[in-house]
Amino acid sequence: MNLQELAAHIAAEFQKHYGRAPRWIVAAPGRVNVIGEHTDYNDGFVLPMAIERYAIMAADAPLPGSVSAASIISIYDAHFQENATIDISAPVTKGLPKWSNYIRGVLCGFQNRGVKIPALDVAFMSTVPLGGGLSSSAALEVCTATLIEAATGKAIDPIEKALLAQKAEHDFAGVPCGIMDQFISALGREGHLLLLDCRTRKTELVPMSDPSVALLVINTNVKHELSGGEYAERRAQCEEAARNLGVKSLRDVTPEQLEKGKGKLSEVVYRRARHVIGEIERTVHAAEGIRASSWPSVGNLMYASHASLRDDYEVSCVELDDVVEIAEDIGYKGGVYGCRMTGGGFGGCCVALVKADCVDAITKKIAVDYKIKTGIEAAIFASRPAAGATIIKG
Ligand code: GLA
Repeated sequence: MNLQELAAHIAAEFQKHYGRAPRWIVAAPGRVNVIGEHTDYNDGFVLPMAIERYAIMAADAPLPGSVSAASIISIYDAHFQENATIDISAPVTKGLPKWSNYIRGVLCGFQNRGVKIPALDVAFMSTVPLGGGLSSSAALEVCTATLIEAATGKAIDPIEKALLAQKAEHDFAGVPCGIMDQFISALGREGHLLLLDCRTRKTELVPMSDPSVALLVINTNVKHELSGGEYAERRAQCEEAARNLGVKSLRDVTPEQLEKGKGKLSEVVYRRARHVIGEIERTVHAAEGIRASSWPSVGNLMYASHASLRDDYEVSCVELDDVVEIAEDIGYKGGVYGCRMTGGGFGGCCVALVKADCVDAITKKIAVDYKIKTGIEAAIFASRPAAGATIIKG
C-alpha cells in the first residue's frame, strides 16, 4: 500500500471502530541504513534513508461526555485488533500492552516539555515489519510525536522531536539506541539519503535519484531484539575503547592512532573499535560515491561494512551472512553492486544496491537460494527514499 492508500485504509478502520471520520491522519516512515552501522552512538556518520513503509495513525478528540473525554488516549491497533488506554491526567508511566510503551514514552516527553496533551481516540497500524531492523519502533515514536503536534496545532523543531523520540526508546523500551532511527524518520526527504553527523547533528541530503540503480531490502525473517543486552554491551565496549585511548568518543580516533594504542585495549575491544573507526570512514566515502554515481565503489564499501560487522563487531548472524553470500555470487554481472546487513543486527534485514533493470531477477534468485540455504522465506522489496514524518490530514 502506498501512503495515500494506507491513509484511506486507516481512516476506514477509525470509522469502523469509533463510528465517525478521523480529524487527523499522520504517518512516520521506517528506515533502511545504507551504511554507517553502530557509528551513531560513537559520534560518527550514518547514511540512512526513509522507506515506503510507515506507522500511521488516524485520530479525533473523544466525543463530549464519553469516558475518554477528560484524560484518556485510547489507541486501537487495527492490525492486531488490540486496545490500549493511557491516562494522561497524571505523568505517563510504563504500562501494558508492551507496544504502548513507545507511545507512552513520547507522551511523557511532551509532558516534560510542559505540553498539555489532549485526550484522543486513535486508530493505528504499521507496515514497517516488526523486529526486522527497519526501525518499526522509531516510526511509532515519531508518528506519535507528529500526532501530538497535529492535535495541539504546535509543531516542534524536527531535531527536538527526534531527540524526544530517542529518549522514549531509552527510558520506556530500555534500548540505549543512538539518534539515527528517529532522525531519519523525522527528517527524511523524498529522493534523498540523509548523511547525519551524529556529533554535531548536522544533516546533509544526498540525492539518490539515479533511475539506473535501486535499493533492495531483504528481510531474513529472523527476528531480533535489541533489548537482549548485546546492543548495550557493544556500546559499553566502545566507551571502554574511547576511555582507554583517552578520547571522548571513537570519532576522535584515526586508524593509525588505533594501531598505536592497540596495547591499551583487550583483543575484543580493539576489534570493536576497528569496526567503528573503519565504518565512519566508509560512510563518508560512500556518501561521496553516491553523489558521483560511482556505484561499484559504493557497493564495495557495503561489502566491506558487512565483513567488518560480521568479523570485528560480531553482530551478524548466519542468515544475514547467507544473504550477502548469495548477493556476492550473483555479483556485478548479475546486477548486484553490494550488499550488507543493516540495522542493529542479530537478524533483521540486509540492504543491497542493485541495477534497477535486474531487480526482478535478483529478487527471485535471492528468494530461491535463501530458502534452499535456510529453509526460511525471505521478504524482499525495493523502496525509493521516502519523505519523513507527515501530517496527511489535519
Ligand atoms: C539500532 C539503533 C540505532 C543504531 C543501529 C546500529 O537501529 O536504534 O541507533 O545504533 O542499531 O547502527
